[in-house]
Amino acid sequence: MEKSEIIVNDFPRSPVSESFRLFRTNLLYLFENNESKVICLTSSNAGEGKSWVTANLAISCAQYGKKVLIIDADLRKGRQHRIFKKSNRTGLSDLLKNLRGALTEEDGQKIEEELTVKIQDTDVPNVYLLSSGPVPFNPSELLGTANIEFLLNLLRKEFDLIIIDTPPASIITDALIFANKVDYMFLVASSRKTKKELLLNTKKAIESVGGKIPGIILNQISTERRKEYSKSYQKYVIEK
Ligand SMILES: Nc1ncnc2c1ncn2[C@@H]1O[C@H](COP(=O)(O)OP(=O)(O)O)[C@@H](O)[C@H]1O
Ligand SMILES: [Mg+2]
Repeated sequence: MEKSEIIVNDFPRSPVSESFRLFRTNLLYLFENNESKVICLTSSNAGEGKSWVTANLAISCAQYGKKVLIIDADLRKGRQHRIFKKSNRTGLSDLLKNLRGALTEEDGQKIEEELTVKIQDTDVPNVYLLSSGPVPFNPSELLGTANIEFLLNLLRKEFDLIIIDTPPASIITDALIFANKVDYMFLVASSRKTKKELLLNTKKAIESVGGKIPGIILNQISTERRKEYSKSYQKYVIEK
């Protein structure tokens, strides 16, 4: 059996869950007194933990009573459905086809109907998933030409928090598509793997298209000092 990745659900008393609670507190503080509710996680490279952090952050916020939607926008290698053991027969990729150009209220109703089919609940109360869907022929073009704002505006009405999981920003431009459509972008960096220069370039690229980055999530902190490690498995740096 595959190892569970939803640590915050399975081991709520673990140090990992504790650091997600801290991140949650900071995030909700950032959201206070305004309408912000959509964030997007990306990183410079693959394997730095975007999908893992997305899933666990979503669970942590759901445990606090928030109704949370995860959108898996990694149309090539989406794996949120695997993390939550759900189907990926349909999802974001086949929704995007109907999200082109200027859309009317009537279109909105149709899309809302589609969303009720495509958004799945998970075994974790309050966590919902719009999985990536079948891998399309032209992922970047599909995302780039879709009316993402329209979709997000429909979803904002329904959820307290929306977290978008993306491919790495420095390799594929998909993450940049979301930068100016969400309230905040978070960069996930691995303290083992991420090169500082690449991280800074990614940050600049996001900011150059109008993305707001309130902080960087430092993941996969070194295991060298075992004791330290268990205390600070994750660290969230939110600079306002
Ligand atoms: N802090 C962490 N502790 C344990 N495993 C982690 C952690 N962060 C990521 N992983 C694991 O590392 C692998 C890559 O993470 P993933 O979230 O898929 O990266 P990305 O989405 O950025 O490509 C996965 O197997 C995930 O479970
Ligand atoms: Mg991923």
